[in-house]
Amino acid sequence: MQKPILILGACGQIGTELTFELRSKFGGENVIASDIREGGENLMQAGPFELLDATNYEAIEDVIMHYEIEEVYLMAAMLSATAEKFPMRAWNLNMNSLFNVLNLAKEGKIGKIFWPSSIAVFGPNTPKENTPQNTVMEPSTVYGISKQAGERWCEYYFKKFGVDVRSVRYPGLISWKTMPGGGTTDYAVEIYHAAIESGRYTCFLEKNTKLPMMFMDDAVKATISLMESPSEKLGTRSSYNLGSMSFCPEELAKSIQKHIPEFEISYKPDFRQQIADTWPKSIDDSLARQDWNWSPEFDLDKTTSSMLENLKKG
Ligand SMILES: NC(=O)c1ccc[n+]([C@@H]2O[C@H](COP(=O)([O-])OP(=O)(O)OC[C@H]3O[C@@H](n4cnc5c(N)ncnc54)[C@H](O)[C@@H]3O)[C@@H](O)[C@H]2O)c1
Repeated sequence: MQKPILILGACGQIGTELTFELRSKFGGENVIASDIREGGENLMQAGPFELLDATNYEAIEDVIMHYEIEEVYLMAAMLSATAEKFPMRAWNLNMNSLFNVLNLAKEGKIGKIFWPSSIAVFGPNTPKENTPQNTVMEPSTVYGISKQAGERWCEYYFKKFGVDVRSVRYPGLISWKTMPGGGTTDYAVEIYHAAIESGRYTCFLEKNTKLPMMFMDDAVKATISLMESPSEKLGTRSSYNLGSMSFCPEELAKSIQKHIPEFEISYKPDFRQQIADTWPKSIDDSLARQDWNWSPEFDLDKTTSSMLENLKKG
């Protein structure tokens, strides 16, 4: 029998779809969604929901005890672009929420944790193509610094206290159910909405800025598959590199033009360009493929077809 799962930050871009998928897999009543704000109607009605601040240890502990939670997915965080505007708030949220779940596991109150890292852990001195799992990191953003520190703490809690924490470095994520929450790759979602609504888009990154990206279905599949893998197979307890496709805004626009030939794109880079310039262009995820059989399904054109089809349905 599935023991109850708690999702912190369930109303965000990833949390929403992860909650849907876990509920369809394990039953609505076994997946407790929580966030500091309410989510969409479907999410609120399909299972239990708690208003919960991921930085409040006692409040999380109460919910864990009440529902006898076994696994926690920590999806609450402040993302890269927003974190540059509110550095201390980002650091407090990203680190304190992680310490809360790590300490709850250390005290034996939960059995397993998923916590996402990001390609933002890499920095300007990292090899940009086929970025290896272990390489120079030196992140230069508030968000990247918090994710790198988080990775170190995850590995530390695993080695020192046996905490079963699992993590992937998500690339930029593309989805149609929920809008992204303030990251540097948000353009790759906004562009599809704009293509349908107005037929044109002004991109905040340069046309040739290539970044690693992933369709949400693949990201959710990776997350659940990692959580279901036998513990002894997982040789990486900081965070696994995770890849699927890499493209630049110009290539994305061309993919959209295969469906909407009159679609127009222009470029007006802003502060997010400097962030993107420090990130990898493509990712070597051979360890994830080897340790837990990771294999993505969506390339750029398949992503574009799915995005346009689902957004048109409204
Ligand atoms: N979306 C991406 O492209 C991407 C890429 C790499 C890594 N990630 C990571 O994945 C995780 C989820 O990202 P996302 O894109 O879903 O983010 P998001 O911004 O869309 O969602 C985050 C959610 O956390 C909630 N939240 C904020 N403060 C909270 C608090 N104190 N307590 C509880 N909930 C709180 C927000 O209300 C929001 O619903 C984050 O750790 C993020 O860093 C995301």
